[in-house]
Amino acid sequence: MSESLPVEATQREQISTTIYRSADQACIRVADAISERIAENTAAGKQTVLGLATGSTPVRLYRELIRRHRDEGLSFADVITFNLDEYYGLAGSHPESYRRFMQEQLFDFIDLKPENTHIPDGAIAREDMFASCRAYEEAIENAGGIDIQILGIGRTGHIGFNEPGSTPDSRTRLVTLDSLTRRDAARDFLGEENVPRHAITMGVGSILHARQVFLLAWGEAKADVIAQSVEGPQTEAIPASFLQRHPNCVFCIDEGAARRLTRARYPWLVGTVDWSPDMIRKAVLWLSRKTKKPLLKLLEEDYSENGMADLLTEKGSAYELNIRMFNTTQHTITGWPGGKPNADDSHRPERATPFPKRSLILSPEPLDDVYCMGGTFHRLVNQGNEVTVAYLTSGNLAVPDSEVRRVIELMLELGEHRQSTEDLKFARLVERQLREKGQFGDDTPEIRHLKGLIRRAESRSSARLLDVDSERLRFLDLPFYENGRYRRFQPGESDTAKLGELLHEIRPHQIFATGLGNDPLSVPALGFEILRAALADSRTRDWVNDCRIWLYRGPGMEWETHEIDMAVPLSPDEFENKIQGIYQHQTQRNQSPSLSKGGSSNTWNLASEINHATANAYDALGLAEYEAIEGFKRWIIQS
Ligand code: GLP
Repeated sequence: MSESLPVEATQREQISTTIYRSADQACIRVADAISERIAENTAAGKQTVLGLATGSTPVRLYRELIRRHRDEGLSFADVITFNLDEYYGLAGSHPESYRRFMQEQLFDFIDLKPENTHIPDGAIAREDMFASCRAYEEAIENAGGIDIQILGIGRTGHIGFNEPGSTPDSRTRLVTLDSLTRRDAARDFLGEENVPRHAITMGVGSILHARQVFLLAWGEAKADVIAQSVEGPQTEAIPASFLQRHPNCVFCIDEGAARRLTRARYPWLVGTVDWSPDMIRKAVLWLSRKTKKPLLKLLEEDYSENGMADLLTEKGSAYELNIRMFNTTQHTITGWPGGKPNADDSHRPERATPFPKRSLILSPEPLDDVYCMGGTFHRLVNQGNEVTVAYLTSGNLAVPDSEVRRVIELMLELGEHRQSTEDLKFARLVERQLREKGQFGDDTPEIRHLKGLIRRAESRSSARLLDVDSERLRFLDLPFYENGRYRRFQPGESDTAKLGELLHEIRPHQIFATGLGNDPLSVPALGFEILRAALADSRTRDWVNDCRIWLYRGPGMEWETHEIDMAVPLSPDEFENKIQGIYQHQTQRNQSPSLSKGGSSNTWNLASEINHATANAYDALGLAEYEAIEGFKRWIIQS
């Protein structure tokens, strides 16, 4: 947590911001504030009015409030709640309506009176909209105004559903959703085409009227928008920036969401820093980017004119630092991600022995493996390592119905042709289920099963291009995913046990994993936590001490150059092969990776942009010029 930071470090921040090591720690702080307010108000014979938000962000806060209600007697009997927003066109019973979300994530587990909960009515007739929005505002006023408002933030900078263009005096109203917001909601609705186009939201002005505001944000996907809201100008382009004018607003965020704040990104610009080796690397690589000079051409003046004079005083001349950083970066590059046998490995990212290695690639969903590290994967296999890929989840929630229809057509035709009654029966059953489910219904177990199988087939044909035998692919279908919905997953011991079993069976020398720094309720982040738990269980096993963990940063993102501990360059041919591997995931062609914003809207183009950009960044530092690079960061298991 950063509460003890010298104030100069936060000099560019226009909103009080606290960075927590984990989302859970931040939620405890906010739950404390809520509990205290309820206790004070109850003692004074008053009710407490809470403004509530939806989305994955507040889920952990709600779990903490439920826990306090259950274990510590925190009562909501004197609480009135107002939710920020609701999708327009959804009845409260729809699985993605915010009314249903609030019931399932909070209301059903606490002693809040149903009549004290308020959520805009998404099923209201268009002609009654204006009156209904006014009545919502009046109800807030009649309740005495909001004591504490909880907010999340969308990647467009929206709060509630106040999309870019919302003014600071806006009030509860019907709005049109931004295309990025709809894309972000696509997985919840099993397809972007199912996401409503409109919503009803409290206005920015309504939010600014709350007496106290906490905005929560987790994961690096929110880092840009957090930095713009906190350090940028107040602008309608980022509605959350209007919170700068609120006298009692705190942003409670985790380290991922803080990545783009000046104090995290360029701390030397806002105060004195401890020049650790990592910090030096970060600063010198930044300096090279900023001055557009390769590392070996940086001058003393470049250092001193860019807030790094003290680095020269403490750690040596520009000449020495340039060479040191050049060598350090050079040593991250290797064409042997599994280690190079019989070679001096003193300056290589991965050790030479044992060889071949047992390499385990953990892919949160099918596609992440090839998308984020397809080239490295191919090299590991071709260089003789024993590579296993484990798909943690089936990915069946991300398959559009149209793909199932296509398979059903095929099954029907084949079934009729071969007179196979069992296959025909199954195909007709799924055909009927698809028809009955309509646009918004839940998938039946049969549909989900079939969707999972479709993704398995895609993974197999992708792996074939990377020269991997089918039997080296393991489909774990972790229960948290099979039994859940996006933003509401609840992993448990059965997930850890399943991954643990695989680890014990393989006893890997290296594991490639992802998810550190993502939104904690996202599939990659949950996968990473499951890995962490499984490793903790197997700590006593000798293989863990001899296992290196390499983090790939995806999907849709890449490490910054100073963070990369292993850079695997790809030749044009290898790169093309990887792209062909990605193409095998036909059902994902219109799905955008959860972390991407702007730039390419196409999953496939984005993968190539990222790998080219890393290669260009290495080139600009004055290192060799490659076609593409995949980057990895080493993660040390903490005891
Ligand atoms: C939705 C909600 C917002 C929420 C945002 C972020 O658009 N209307 O209130 O803050 O999404 O969602 P998440 O917390 O899932 O990232």
